[in-house]
Amino acid sequence: MQTGKLSGKIALVTGASSGIGEATALALAAEGATLAIAARRAERLDDLAKRIRETGSAALPIAVDVTDETQATAMVERVQQDYGRLDMLLAVAGVGVAAPFRNTTPEEYRRMVDVNILGLLYPIHAALPSMQRQGAGHIVVVSSGTGRYIHPSVVYSGTKHAVSAMAESLRREIGKDGQAVEQRLGDMEQLESEDIAAAILYAVSQPPRVNVNILTLYPTAQA
Ligand SMILES: NC(=O)c1ccc[n+]([C@@H]2O[C@H](COP(=O)([O-])OP(=O)(O)OC[C@H]3O[C@@H](n4cnc5c(N)ncnc54)[C@H](OP(=O)(O)O)[C@@H]3O)[C@@H](O)[C@H]2O)c1
Repeated sequence: MQTGKLSGKIALVTGASSGIGEATALALAAEGATLAIAARRAERLDDLAKRIRETGSAALPIAVDVTDETQATAMVERVQQDYGRLDMLLAVAGVGVAAPFRNTTPEEYRRMVDVNILGLLYPIHAALPSMQRQGAGHIVVVSSGTGRYIHPSVVYSGTKHAVSAMAESLRREIGKDGQAVEQRLGDMEQLESEDIAAAILYAVSQPPRVNVNILTLYPTAQA
């Protein structure tokens, strides 16, 4: 049986068939999380599931197109049915077309809008009610530097700004749940010095290719 920081936690990773999603699924499994891994390419998910199981963690591959509301909702329900709950949704699926706008086809920019925006909203909308009932849960989305600052990537940058805005807005909406303003300020659990130290340690211990530019930490209860 796996032991680690995430032992007993159920995590669903979208975009797990390659890149950041795949690496994230492996990293969570290495800390003992139980994984559900989702994307369209089923054979790549099966291969990843095998590698995760070799680490001692469970892995449930789910072939899904996250731009399809019915499929995205069924994905979340499947995890809840098979594992009994969902503690973490890591909505990593995304696409970027590296071409000037004038050379980007409507089909390509529709796909960026669909995957990068709707492909996040559908799973989050499906996962939120049970997390709110549990009173706990993590939702992680992946924006981009071009979602904070303007770079010449018209549609991709637009969708990633949307991702940043949606994440911040949702954080405020959920943080406010059922709390009076004065109560939020008075009783709010503040960050510990060790929380900041852990983020600093992360920033300074990355390989030279990684420049950790901005890390934002808030008290969870702060809207
Ligand atoms: N790589 C970077 O340096 C970087 C930097 C900033 C932000 N990001 C963001 O990080 C995220 C992951 O990027 P990556 O570099 O890891 O890209 P990647 O290797 O191309 O992975 C993209 C993942 O998204 C999945 N996906 C795409 N369309 C989907 C759909 N309709 N339904 C379900 N899954 C879908 C793909 O799986 P299938 O094709 O199997 O469906 C794949 O697993 C993206 O949101 C990207 O914008 C990446």
